[in-house]
Amino acid sequence: MKRTLGSLAVLGGAPAFDTPVVFGRPNIGSRKAFYDRLDTVLDSRWLSNGGVLCEEFERRVAQEAGTPYCIATCNATSALQLALRARGVTGEVIMPAFTFAATAHALSWIGLTPVLCDVDPDDGSLLLSEAEALIGPDTTAILGVHIWGRPSRLDELTTLARRHGLALIFDSAHAFGCGWNGRRIGGFGDAEVFSFHATKFINSFEGGALVTADGELARRARRMRNFGIAGHDDVVSVGTNAKLHEASAAMGLTSLDDMDHFVRSNRENYRRYRDELAGTPGLRLLEVDEREANNYQYVVLDVDAARTGLDRDDLLAVLAAENVFARRYFYPGCHRMDPYRTHRPFPGTDSIAARVMVLPTGECVTADDITAVCAIIRFAVERGHEVTRCLRRAA
Ligand SMILES: Cc1ncc(COP(=O)(O)O)c(C=O)c1O
Repeated sequence: MKRTLGSLAVLGGAPAFDTPVVFGRPNIGSRKAFYDRLDTVLDSRWLSNGGVLCEEFERRVAQEAGTPYCIATCNATSALQLALRARGVTGEVIMPAFTFAATAHALSWIGLTPVLCDVDPDDGSLLLSEAEALIGPDTTAILGVHIWGRPSRLDELTTLARRHGLALIFDSAHAFGCGWNGRRIGGFGDAEVFSFHATKFINSFEGGALVTADGELARRARRMRNFGIAGHDDVVSVGTNAKLHEASAAMGLTSLDDMDHFVRSNRENYRRYRDELAGTPGLRLLEVDEREANNYQYVVLDVDAARTGLDRDDLLAVLAAENVFARRYFYPGCHRMDPYRTHRPFPGTDSIAARVMVLPTGECVTADDITAVCAIIRFAVERGHEVTRCLRRAA
């Protein structure tokens, strides 16, 4: 069937998909393995508080991350707070404006002040020169973020933190299973934090983990995770309840069992998107460095509206009408969110937050789905100026 402007669902055509193709559908491993694990949990009547599955999950996460210590938590936000408190961070913390609100919330919620720094508009990585300029007398830490599991400039960031005597913590919520310079993400800085939320590469429904090579930091964080209790009932520090329960650990372990399969299917999807969209003027798929370990969980499309004539939000609307739900990422940037509004210019963050979308992937998305999604994207972008005119007229 020849595609015409009128065949686009957003302009009155029939949607290309009956069943929605959605970003963020979780990969789910073997149900049998999960239910078997749940049975052992119920049989044991040990549902939380450092159960055997939580301990096994911690061992396997540490092994994957190449770190000696792992403390599993109920989510990454809590793990970030444990890492910051266990490292003794106070005052101001420099972090990128281009990240999920949770990065800033983790700081603010425990009385730290997030100092937002702009990012490179090409890849979303922290601008090192600006970060250095933001260091003041109250700064005690840098909180880096491996956006979409793509770490960058880790050597420079490590040097910067060392030179100024600052703690260095990484929000590695997206980066479980990724690597940099042949090393797994997890062992950089003072501590790193993964998310195992349902939308992440490995999920435990909700969950997170702090990994570190620092035994003392790990010991403190482990205690704080459980109300600051040492031994049975000796409260020796402030604490919280950030424990991962056994049902979540069962899911996390089941997800880990299938990790290689998830990588393979994510990689095939990424490569198919890359090949299908290659050479389309104004579109760029953010590259994954395939020499490193990757989870391929985030297929990021950069839309240059000046060349396509169709901006990112209109392309999202075109796709949504077809029942394809891609997602803006970190829009509009923390500097434009009420609690963190900052009146300095953030041109890098503004630019990337206006241009990128993350495309649907994961085991629920088939090769045919991707071919069809890319055909819609190519058509809409090639006729970008006309599509935009029609959308404005219809509005
Ligand atoms: C960059 C980043 N940091 C932190 C978080 C928070 O993770 P969690 O939901 O496990 O608390 C997320 C969640 O999506 C995230 O994207």
